[in-house]
Amino acid sequence: MEAEARPVIEALGLQLDLEAGDPALPHRHFTGRWGKRGETELMLTVNGRDPRHRCDSIGTDPATLSAYVTLKNFKPELCISAGTAGGWASRGAKIGDIFLSRSPLRFHDRRIPIPEFEAYGRGEYPSQDVTALADKLKFKLGNVSTGNSLNHTAEDLEMMVQFESDVKEMEAAAIARVAMLLGTPFFAVKAITDLVDSTHATQEQFLANLDLASERLSTAVIQLLRELAQITT
Ligand code: ADE
Repeated sequence: MEAEARPVIEALGLQLDLEAGDPALPHRHFTGRWGKRGETELMLTVNGRDPRHRCDSIGTDPATLSAYVTLKNFKPELCISAGTAGGWASRGAKIGDIFLSRSPLRFHDRRIPIPEFEAYGRGEYPSQDVTALADKLKFKLGNVSTGNSLNHTAEDLEMMVQFESDVKEMEAAAIARVAMLLGTPFFAVKAITDLVDSTHATQEQFLANLDLASERLSTAVIQLLRELAQITT
């Protein structure tokens, strides 16, 4: 979402690049440089506004499309899915916590009860092992699961309990699949806006905490870039 990306774009001084990507799509690409000598090129892609419904293009379809365009054109050394997510108080999460992804990333709303399709439905796409980064930056590590709804059905919850999900969001597994197909190393960083096991409605928590979580996310992304620059330069 625009609101999730804005603090990162501003903090990194990224510029809108109208030449990157496909002008037919609502995605927006922002580019910039990072590091003492600007040695690291950055590209941040937001899925943009849906032209029909005039709201942010949330969910797995826009995520797949924008991940493909970004990874194919930009050919990055690393792809990070950064955004907000729901967490579980019963699993130790608090509003504003930062989680990095454990492998694998799964879908919790794709139920295909035919033996050869069950695992395909769950996805199970790889994340880089970011344990050392999480330890260094005091972020949490969590099992990430993706679906196309902000709230959840009883069946979704059953799957998330089975996955021992820590992080519930709407894009990461789809992006992880594209990254796997194109051979791009991948992980997710997610800031918690709402607690799935709270008695308060998800949308109310989400809207109340979006700005705080987006600020935390922006700080976390910059901390990650700083650490990654030390590893790769
Ligand atoms: N993004 C933020 N909170 C979420 C939730 N509970 N489910 C899906 N996506 C989210």
